[in-house]
Amino acid sequence: MNLKKLAGEKAVEFVENGMVVGLGSGTTAYYAIQKIGEKVREGLKIKCICTSFHTRDLADKWNIPCLDIDEVDQIDLTIDGVDEVDPDGNGIKGGGGALLLEKIVASRSVQNIWVVEERKLIKQLGAFPLPVEIMPFGHQHLLRNFTRRNYHPELRKKGNEVYITDGGHFLADLHLGYIEDPFQLDMELKKIPGVLETGLFLNMVNKVVSASHDKVEVLTFR
Ligand code: 5RP
Repeated sequence: MNLKKLAGEKAVEFVENGMVVGLGSGTTAYYAIQKIGEKVREGLKIKCICTSFHTRDLADKWNIPCLDIDEVDQIDLTIDGVDEVDPDGNGIKGGGGALLLEKIVASRSVQNIWVVEERKLIKQLGAFPLPVEIMPFGHQHLLRNFTRRNYHPELRKKGNEVYITDGGHFLADLHLGYIEDPFQLDMELKKIPGVLETGLFLNMVNKVVSASHDKVEVLTFR
């Protein structure tokens, strides 16, 4: 059973004619985008905003009409994946490396829906390494700063090369184990010069579509 497909496709039931829809990134959002492509082929009239170059390639492949984010005032609904979700609907994103664009799109969206396999619903955030998008300029200083704070940073690599985000930045993955207070940590991180954005998506999601082997559930948070 393909749980990612079940969750991704279920979320597309919330897409309506005339909407501006944010398309997320990652292997679960992939199935939502594919389904949207099918519906567009059948006549669904929507415009989409992409959260990564890769997603834009998928949207083009399936002839989904896309706009630049600056061409719209707001996005009606964004469907995206997530790496961990806690019982309050706060999450860690950025495992796929697209967190900055994803956060900009999510923050402009009236409704955010995350699509997940049930195993990603956890009690406390932090077992998944927290991605933080950082400036290449001075990044070694920043990594040492993180180390002094016991954040256990690891510079994201792709093979032997440093991973470069769609925004042209680097990523530090913080191996925290657990996060006592995600709001406090988010604030602390953003105060450090060189930190561009964190993978903590707090008070942002409206619905989580979670798929397990028994059921597909829609959890509503706000
Ligand atoms: C990319 C993301 C992804 O949405 C997140 O990593 C989940 O990906 P997947 O559905 O492949 O597990 O935040 O930056």
